[in-house]
Amino acid sequence: MKTRSVGIVGVGHVGAHCAYSLAVQGIVDELVLVDVKEQKVISECQDLRDSVSYLPHRVEVRGGTYEDLKDCDIVVISVGTIMGEDHSRLAELKHSVELVNSFVGRIVKAGFDGIFIVITNPCDIIARQVQKLSGFPASRVFATGTGLDSARLRTVLARETGIDHKSLVAYTMGEHGDSQMVPWSHVTVNGKPLDQLAKENPNKYQVDKEAVLHETIEGGWVTFAGKGATEFGICSTLARLVFCVFHDEKAVMPVSTQLNGQYGQHDLYISTPCVIGKDGVEEVLELTLTPEEMAAFQHSCDVIRTNIGYIEE
Ligand code: 2OP
Repeated sequence: MKTRSVGIVGVGHVGAHCAYSLAVQGIVDELVLVDVKEQKVISECQDLRDSVSYLPHRVEVRGGTYEDLKDCDIVVISVGTIMGEDHSRLAELKHSVELVNSFVGRIVKAGFDGIFIVITNPCDIIARQVQKLSGFPASRVFATGTGLDSARLRTVLARETGIDHKSLVAYTMGEHGDSQMVPWSHVTVNGKPLDQLAKENPNKYQVDKEAVLHETIEGGWVTFAGKGATEFGICSTLARLVFCVFHDEKAVMPVSTQLNGQYGQHDLYISTPCVIGKDGVEEVLELTLTPEEMAAFQHSCDVIRTNIGYIEE
């Protein structure tokens, strides 16, 4: 039997919740936790092990070094400060780049040959950096990106329309940040366009698109305001992605991936819907966007590109 093994680098609020989410949902057999704070690793390992008796199946939990991640199937990167007081994920850029620069090479040199999933913000730029540092094919390095924002979007739309989250095909694309956009022409209620439903039944389906996008973007800050971190949303997003890989699900989810010509973009990590399976990002779906949507998406690409410029100066 093959062991499903996930390493997590950075076990602060986010990394620890990712570990617990993977364990409690029965998605992994083995967790390897790595952090520069040794006692934090010891404590999180102890706490996770104490939960195993009541979990769906046994999970081996251990702490380790970067080199100990070599046999993992997936390594999750959740180092760094997750959000700054100034409400900008981009403010984390310099520090996050320094952090990944310090360890990605060590993990790869030790023999790791699996999939990197990046959470560390600004995750689009950090995923690009991890891909370059690792030399892995882009399919095996991606970031949670707007997978999380899309969950926030569906939360708002479910409330507004009264339709369950899972029957809504709705996601945001672009930067995991303020410039993300919603391709409204692709939002459907199980295949029926929301715009068409809004014409037929405005009382139920007409939504204020600007307000919905605003609430989606603000969701993370609302969470951050009272607890100084976001945890449940991001760990659920990560767990879903890991599940898709281990079950070779070929599910379509927005993640931050490398564009190679799609939307006229090259050498840029940004979120668009992708097919996720055992090999990571197995296909990048390029949507046909309306001119307005395309302009909004291109603006988001420009925002990321400008910020990449700061690390390449
Ligand atoms: C969020 O939006 C931390 O970027 C993460 O919750």
